[in-house]
Amino acid sequence: MKRLLLLLAAAAATAEAGTCTDCHPGVEEPVLASAHPQTSCTDCHNGDDTAAEMTDAHATEKKFIGRPKALEWAAMCGDCHREAAQAWTASPHLDALRKGDPAGATCVSCHAAAATPSGHSLADCGDAGAPSARLQVAATCAKCHADGAAMARSGVRADAVELYGKGPHGHNVLEEKAADGPSCVDCHDAHASPRSSDPASAAHPSRQAQTCGRCHGDEKVMKPHGLSHGLVAKYEGSPHARGLDSGAPSCAGCHGPHLVRVPPVTEIVAHCGRCHEGPAREFAAGPHGKAVRTDPQTGEATPMSCEDCHGAHGARRPESPWAARSCGKCHAAGTPALADGERLSSISADTRADLVRLHGLLERARARGHQAGEGCEALAALDGAWQDMSALAHGVSAEAGAMARTAFVRDAKAVEESLGRLVPGPRDLRWLPAMWAFVLAGVVLMWRKSRA
Ligand code: HEC
Ligand code: HEC
Ligand code: HEC
Ligand code: HEC
Ligand code: HEC
Ligand code: HEC
Ligand code: HEC
Ligand code: HEC
Ligand code: HEC
Ligand code: HEC
Ligand code: HEC
Repeated sequence: MKRLLLLLAAAAATAEAGTCTDCHPGVEEPVLASAHPQTSCTDCHNGDDTAAEMTDAHATEKKFIGRPKALEWAAMCGDCHREAAQAWTASPHLDALRKGDPAGATCVSCHAAAATPSGHSLADCGDAGAPSARLQVAATCAKCHADGAAMARSGVRADAVELYGKGPHGHNVLEEKAADGPSCVDCHDAHASPRSSDPASAAHPSRQAQTCGRCHGDEKVMKPHGLSHGLVAKYEGSPHARGLDSGAPSCAGCHGPHLVRVPPVTEIVAHCGRCHEGPAREFAAGPHGKAVRTDPQTGEATPMSCEDCHGAHGARRPESPWAARSCGKCHAAGTPALADGERLSSISADTRADLVRLHGLLERARARGHQAGEGCEALAALDGAWQDMSALAHGVSAEAGAMARTAFVRDAKAVEESLGRLVPGPRDLRWLPAMWAFVLAGVVLMWRKSRA
């Protein structure tokens, strides 16, 4: 038995050398020193390694693969590395090769040791110097992703590597050589590397809370850095997470994907104001725009910002009545400021109730087959007015709020009258209880009769 095994091994060894090396000397050595010491020439290239003639050795019937082109990479490596090859087959890297772009990334681009890049010098991922090793990944991607001309051909930004290097993630991985920060392939699958606009990408806005949350939602990872882990859950419950389709920001929408910068408090108003112009404008013009408050954590005097009332990650709209909860955090009971807050809050509650009622009317009018075009338009204008009033509330002037409310009430009345004409009001239904009483009396009479 032992002899048989030895014989088999010897046969395998000759098969490995084969006739290929007769004509291709010097290839075997690097292969033996690579991650593939056991892999024969024909394991990768196919062909016939018993043939003496080149045409036989390279025979197409034997599925010979020379220097692989495009999909041939998957054929060459995929028998043994199916997952990697399949994922790569769907990647933009293969798309680029197919378009004939020399910058399309092949297996060799990311796995061959830098000194002699070839299919014969593929490195074990565990080797510190391997291009696929954690510390080398950014440099490997940089070969193409920091090349402005190569990226411009595909319309891809060429600043990812530079920004990553300048930010806390690059600092963590490349300089501190720490094990807990993300490398490029933590957010961009190494083999599928889907476009970030593809919902399958871990970098797609809809998946960022999950991708970033793997670390930022984990107390064990965040605590040593003095960072909070609760912000991910807060974000996930926020109107921003629900409103991604209407342009609300994901994690990278506010921090940038690669620099992942934390906006300092002095920039937050402008930061949120990019999308919430009205609130930012009114806030800046009102007393809070100039207000300085003491930071509860550091004890330092800092300017006020949107975060004081909404939080950066929860970004929730306070439910009315909000005066005590929102303004009461800083303004004591009985102060004129809190009184203003109470007035604004009740204006907000009344306005919201009016709108709920009017939308109910519109729905009933529609249920009765009315188009209600005019009423519908006027109601949309009222919705807009309510949005403006909410923005105006950021100036915290009860007087301005009261004026806006007066105008709203006037317009709301007109809408209510026009919709009211299309829907039977309560007056028209006054006969309903009488009718039911009549029917009931009839039923009782018949029941008595039947028993008699
Ligand atoms: C009789 C000599 C001979 C034998 C045997 C031979 N080759 Fe070749 N091979 C050549 C020559 C000559 C070239 C270069 C000419 C060309 O590119 O067609 C070449 C080219 C190649 C190339 C590069 C093809 C390309 O696309 O540029 C590969 C890969 C290759 N051989 C692999 C093999 C393998 C694997 C075997 C064993 C199964 C083998 N060869 C056996 C002579 C041989
Ligand atoms: C792990 C797979 C693998 C094995 C094993 C392998 N090759 Fe290759 N070989 C490749 C790839 C991939 C290329 C193309 C490299 C490129 O285009 O960058 C290549 C290129 C070649 C070339 C043309 C370019 C050159 O480097 O000269 C020859 C000839 C060649 N191989 C012969 C061989 C022979 C002979 C053996 C066995 C001793 C062998 N190969 C083993 C993957 C392999
Ligand atoms: C005949 C099977 C076979 C073929 C074909 C093959 N490999 Fe491998 N490959 C292996 C084996 C076996 C290992 C070592 C496995 C291990 O260490 O887990 C390996 C290791 C590797 C590694 C290192 C993996 C690690 O975990 O460190 C890479 C990268 C790799 N191969 C890439 C390629 C590429 C690229 C090709 C095609 C050019 C290829 N292989 C073709 C069998 C193959
Ligand atoms: C854009 C760069 C890139 C390309 C292209 C690439 N790889 Fe990788 N590959 C990596 C990185 C980085 C790792 C290690 C990181 C990780 O765990 O995902 C890796 C890991 C691997 C591993 C070991 C772990 C595993 O997933 O099994 C194998 C085997 C492998 N690659 C094979 C291939 C093959 C085969 C191809 C071509 C079809 C290929 N790679 C193309 C970057 C790349
Ligand atoms: C913490 C996660 C993370 C890390 C680490 C990361 N990226 Fe990104 N990357 C993203 C996100 C998120 C996007 C999508 C940005 C967007 O939609 O605006 C993105 C987008 C990209 C894009 C597409 C740009 C475009 O023009 O559409 C490329 C290319 C890219 N990253 C490469 C890299 C490279 C190279 C590295 C390593 C140096 C890296 N990324 C590290 C999260 C990350
Ligand atoms: C050999 C060059 C090369 C290397 C190395 C390379 N890439 Fe690419 N990559 C490209 C090209 C070219 C494209 C554009 C493909 C297209 O859109 O046609 C691209 C596209 C991408 C995209 C999709 C960008 C988008 O959103 O449209 C991601 C993500 C990506 N690469 C990540 C990586 C990562 C991560 C690495 C390192 C592990 C890496 N690449 C290494 C050349 C390369
Ligand atoms: C693999 C784990 C990991 C992933 C994934 C990750 N991060 Fe980080 N992040 C860290 C670590 C660790 C630090 C602390 C780095 C340091 O200070 O050394 C950090 C730091 C940060 C910081 C700086 C915090 C500060 O106050 O300095 C921001 C902002 C950030 N990450 C945002 C993101 C975003 C946005 C994503 C997703 C697109 C993300 N991170 C994905 C691990 C991760
Ligand atoms: C609407 C914009 C916005 C969104 C969306 C957002 N952030 Fe932030 N983030 C901020 C602002 C502003 C700060 C600074 C104020 C603060 O520390 O609360 C901050 C602070 C941070 C910090 C540092 C805080 C600390 O613990 O010291 C990290 C880490 C962070 N964000 C990660 C994330 C992650 C992960 C996501 C997605 C789940 C995300 N952010 C979504 C605006 C945003
Ligand atoms: C990239 C644009 C963008 C940025 C930056 C942004 N937001 Fe938003 N925000 C939105 C969108 C869009 C919505 C609406 C989501 C929806 O459809 O419900 C929203 C919703 C909100 C809401 C809830 C509004 C409601 O009517 O329920 C609040 C509160 C809010 N954002 C506060 C903030 C704060 C505070 C910041 C800064 C830390 C900020 N936003 C940054 C786009 C943005
Ligand atoms: C003093 C507390 C406070 C501050 C500071 C504050 N808000 Fe508000 N915000 C509120 C209250 C209360 C409401 C609800 C108003 C209502 O019920 O009409 C609100 C509502 C909102 C809404 C939803 C209504 C709308 O207009 O879409 C957004 C968006 C918003 N705020 C964004 C911001 C932004 C951006 C900042 C910073 C420039 C900011 N807020 C600063 C208390 C505050
Ligand atoms: C984070 C603390 C904080 C919150 C929350 C807050 N304020 Fe203020 N407010 C201030 C500071 C600080 C000033 C500047 C005047 C001062 O130094 O007392 C101020 C000033 C004012 C003023 C100008 C008149 C005065 O007393 O100086 C009004 C009115 C006001 N706030 C109303 C409100 C209303 C309404 C709310 C709730 C929507 C609110 N504030 C929430 C901190 C806050």
